[in-house]
Amino acid sequence: MNHKLVLRGDRPLKGSITAQGAKNAALPVMASALLMKNGTLELSRVPDLHDIQTMSDLLRNLGAEVHFSEGKMNIVTPDQLDWATPPALVRKMRASSLVLGPLLARCHRAVLPLPGGCAIGSRPIDLHLKGLTKMGAEIRLEHGSVHAEASRLKGARIYLDFPSVGATENLLMAAVLAEGETVIENAAREPEISNLAETLIRMGGQIDGDGTGTIRVKGVEELHGTEITIIPDRIEASTYILAGAITGGDVTVKGMEPEHLEALLAKLEEAGAHLSIQGDCVRTLPDTLLSAVSLKTLPYPGFPTDLQPQIMAALCLARGTSVIQERVFESRFLHVSELKRMGCQIELQGDTAIITGVEHLTGAEVRATDLRAGAALVLAGLAANGYTCIYQMGHIQRGYENMVEKLRSLGGDVEIVPCDENEGPKF
Ligand code: EPZ
Repeated sequence: MNHKLVLRGDRPLKGSITAQGAKNAALPVMASALLMKNGTLELSRVPDLHDIQTMSDLLRNLGAEVHFSEGKMNIVTPDQLDWATPPALVRKMRASSLVLGPLLARCHRAVLPLPGGCAIGSRPIDLHLKGLTKMGAEIRLEHGSVHAEASRLKGARIYLDFPSVGATENLLMAAVLAEGETVIENAAREPEISNLAETLIRMGGQIDGDGTGTIRVKGVEELHGTEITIIPDRIEASTYILAGAITGGDVTVKGMEPEHLEALLAKLEEAGAHLSIQGDCVRTLPDTLLSAVSLKTLPYPGFPTDLQPQIMAALCLARGTSVIQERVFESRFLHVSELKRMGCQIELQGDTAIITGVEHLTGAEVRATDLRAGAALVLAGLAANGYTCIYQMGHIQRGYENMVEKLRSLGGDVEIVPCDENEGPKF
């Protein structure tokens, strides 16, 4: 049975919600549990999402025990771990590749099906493999899987051609148990990297420079259990702030870290949004018709690619012409054709989208092509006149915990409706 999201728009949202724990912090932190020689990794503020379930199933397949309830997760890693990952699970979620570094460091072997591309580009893991090879791993590709072996990984100086989040995380986890020092240059600086580094330090790892472009790691013999609280999800929080802005509503997002989304807040203020930022809360004040702005997506602290579809939806109703350049993924515009079905005026030129603001949007039947594209369609549907029906909403549930309940608590008219597996927008 599939489900679609049906929402009636054109009403300002009002009220407050609390940000979930960050999906993209929880996933690598969960994978880091494989590095422990003994003990338990206790996580707090873990969001209840499909991707978290997938990572839990993957860790269980490798021999770990995973208990999860009400945001609290305990992971116990046995002496003997399996090191061959199940293809069906790995292909469900690209973040499965994050077990590669830990398995190599802990078991000295790993077999990982190459993650498929997805709606936002080919997404290879060449930078992960290049760094692990530099650390002494022997890697060969066979029948679409990575076969990796390393008696013991050795510290190395690694320069990342691109500040890849996943490659930084995999190499960081591999380095904490390697022999000697590892330096990762041009490392990703996302806050999720620092949440992972903090976890590894609490486990007994020796790490400096996380959050900067150069991370130094001194390898240790073994790691033990610890506890960690997952940071707030800056992308989910930003999505609800944009929901307030696009509906001209009064929405407060609580329990977040405003400095983690400075790029968005600065861009919204440049567009004329009235925001109130106090402590761990951000509030959008009503009656702000946005003006057009231009932006390009960049690695942190630049404007996040994971907010590109959502801010595009908001700019479709801004005064004037906006320009968005997608600089992180080679193709992340599949949401454009769906937004155009709702009356958005968007022209694509290579990696650039030119958005001409319109007076209003009209509800339509649309399809979510990936997680953040789906979020963009929700935002457009909240602002549009009439009903919007979003098929393939499973994509949205991968990253947004209790979205329907949260939107309803803000006064949104939203419901999940069962539909046939192959039901889709009537073209
Ligand atoms: C992480 O993906 C996030 N996922 C993505 O969020 C996010 O969009 C992305 O970082 C960029 O911020 C998780 O953290 C689980 P990358 P990741 O490696 O690690 C290329 C969401 O919606 N690249 O930084 O896969 C790659 O093709 C998801 O929550 C290589 O060429 O991203 C892409 O163009 C979507 N070779 C760019 O770098 C490599 O070896 C950024 O990828 C690795 C990456």
